[in-house]
Amino acid sequence: MAIGVFDSGIGGLTVHHALVRRLPQADFVYLADQANSPYGGRPGEEIVKLTRAGCERLFAQGCDVVILACNTAAAVALRRLQQTWLPGFRRDLGRPVNVLGLIVPTIEAATGVPWAQELEVRGERRERLEVLGVFSTPATATSRVYEIEIDKRSEAFAVFSEPCPTLAKLIEAGESDATLQPIVETHVAALERRIGRPPDRAILGCTHYEIIAGLFRAALPQATSLIHQPGATAEAVERYLGRHPEYDPGRAGVRRFLTTGAPGLQNGLAERFWGEPLTFEAA
Ligand code: DGL
Repeated sequence: MAIGVFDSGIGGLTVHHALVRRLPQADFVYLADQANSPYGGRPGEEIVKLTRAGCERLFAQGCDVVILACNTAAAVALRRLQQTWLPGFRRDLGRPVNVLGLIVPTIEAATGVPWAQELEVRGERRERLEVLGVFSTPATATSRVYEIEIDKRSEAFAVFSEPCPTLAKLIEAGESDATLQPIVETHVAALERRIGRPPDRAILGCTHYEIIAGLFRAALPQATSLIHQPGATAEAVERYLGRHPEYDPGRAGVRRFLTTGAPGLQNGLAERFWGEPLTFEAA
């Protein structure tokens, strides 16, 4: 048995990498739906269908748990699949399986530490309010998942999302820093204009952006702290597996990489991030 990790492309490798470091003995199957990438500009129903197909493939490969290492899939499809598809699928399969997301662990990492600053509100009243910026795909921004989930937990945060329509596609294509840097700077400036000042914290709410976290770091003021999803997600998955011994993560340290797109060597950004060349098999 194994842990499945799903993304539209190479972005989820950032989460996979953190999972492998935390659970080195576990067996992993990574699936990149590169035939249909990027997801971020697609209609919601398409994202649900594609995410479900990805989960089915990973369960067919023997995975017990699938991690949606894709904010777009998690934001748009996770709840739907958990409520309307997974119970019947589990029954038919005859073994316990589950699908987990990365948004709640990210929000816990972003809001968990008590860290607030005094902000002057309307001249007179002073409130403790922290401003969180979220960079994401358009589909994640439209879902308002970060705003909704953070509002549920705390009133101490104001959340502003910045959709970045082209970024995941360009990262997937292995574009250079020289091409990506001005685009990142444009989005950082747009978010700051909308807020009226830089955010206190910034969430890279698309796993592809983690690959170029350095460019976001350079474009944001030093005082803005950056929330990294991979570590937060891997920690949450480890805790989850500890509480749920019915899911077997495997123990041979096997790592397979599958793609619905063109098999072979991944682009240089994936390699730079991973530290060694990565070859994908046909899914
Ligand atoms: N890496 C994905 C995310 O976290 C998807 C990007 C895309 O396919 O548009 O949202």
